[in-house]
Amino acid sequence: MLRQQDVGHRIVVRRIVGIREGRPLFSDALGELVELSETHLTLATAQGQLRVPVAQVHRAKRVPPTRRPTAAAVVALERAADEAWPAPTRDQLGDWLLRAADGWTGRANSALPIGDPDRPLPAAVDAVERWYADRGQTPIINTPLPLAAPVGAELDARGWAARPPVLVQTTPLPLRPPATSSPPGNAPVARRTPATAGQHSDQPGTAVADADRWSSAVVELAAAPSAEWLAVAAGRKGSLPDAARHVLTAVGQVRFAHVYDDSTLVAVGRGTVTGQGRWLGLSLIEVSPVARRQGLASRVIHELAAWGVSTGATHAFLQVEQHNTAAVALYRRLGFTTHHTYLTRVAPH
Ligand SMILES: CC(C)(COP(=O)(O)OP(=O)(O)OC[C@H]1O[C@@H](n2cnc3c(N)ncnc32)[C@H](O)[C@@H]1OP(=O)(O)O)[C@@H](O)C(=O)NCCC(=O)NCCS
Repeated sequence: MLRQQDVGHRIVVRRIVGIREGRPLFSDALGELVELSETHLTLATAQGQLRVPVAQVHRAKRVPPTRRPTAAAVVALERAADEAWPAPTRDQLGDWLLRAADGWTGRANSALPIGDPDRPLPAAVDAVERWYADRGQTPIINTPLPLAAPVGAELDARGWAARPPVLVQTTPLPLRPPATSSPPGNAPVARRTPATAGQHSDQPGTAVADADRWSSAVVELAAAPSAEWLAVAAGRKGSLPDAARHVLTAVGQVRFAHVYDDSTLVAVGRGTVTGQGRWLGLSLIEVSPVARRQGLASRVIHELAAWGVSTGATHAFLQVEQHNTAAVALYRRLGFTTHHTYLTRVAPH
């Protein structure tokens, strides 16, 4: 049988789905184990999330990890991600993309070396260096791995630095529902007593009131970002040049999520649908420190996911720095697994 250590791994489950002529009928499901409780287990399968009552499980065991995604799958996802975060200044070097956005974010100001650059690798890297130098920018190349490992080796030889690894994570849609009895949609999610409740322990009722306060906050989606929403993005990314507005808004299908507590903006998120309608992209998920661990990020993501599904998206993706343990834990809990990683490589000065 399964144990908590199996969460996050691929498993196969044989479950009893009926009885015919006194004999059990079985059905097998394969996927990543996202949650295991005393009563249920939840699998992320290729068809979506599957919640199986433990009482129905005949047999379950870990199986070897899935094969790496194909190069074509990595390319398709990277192109969908590029569409979701569009740099206003763009060029091509064969199949490689060259992108600039007034220096706003590494992704929008980096070359994406996927496909054939139409010239030998050293000449391609020379051309990238010139393209950014002409714009007064430090050359940056995002290397999806292992696809762009040969490019990485060339950059190693030139002494380019590497920023911390970024995980590109995906999950099938729809997301599995929040782990409560709340109806789907924007209904409040019942939460445990806030982590900060200790400071109110001499004031009976305050902790419960706080929990109610966050659970009744509503997630709203807008087609354009408000000035306050943009201010959060600016705070997160350090500034907000003109190009940033283009990166955030120049996508055919985009929604900006916000949650207010009275008149204070406490949570934001951004959703895009790209890659020929297949991929919901999640970005700029942020909750103000006072409102964390109350389920707001989960609710923002569920709301954006429901919108993505309504447009026809079948999968979601996001990019998260590997060392962002809070966000990685949040996404794991929602069913995301790592599709591939990338390294942001920066030319020496
Ligand atoms: C990451 C972040 C968005 C999470 O927001 P949040 O509203 O606190 O998340 P939720 O309350 O929905 O968390 C749901 C679950 O995720 C996991 N989780 C969230 N924050 C966690 C943390 N700091 N440590 C461990 N697990 C965490 C937990 O499993 C949590 O459930 P629990 O509280 O019942 O244990 C928030 O910490 C944040 O804004 N961080 C700064 C911005 C950022 O890094 N954004 C993500 C960029 S990719």
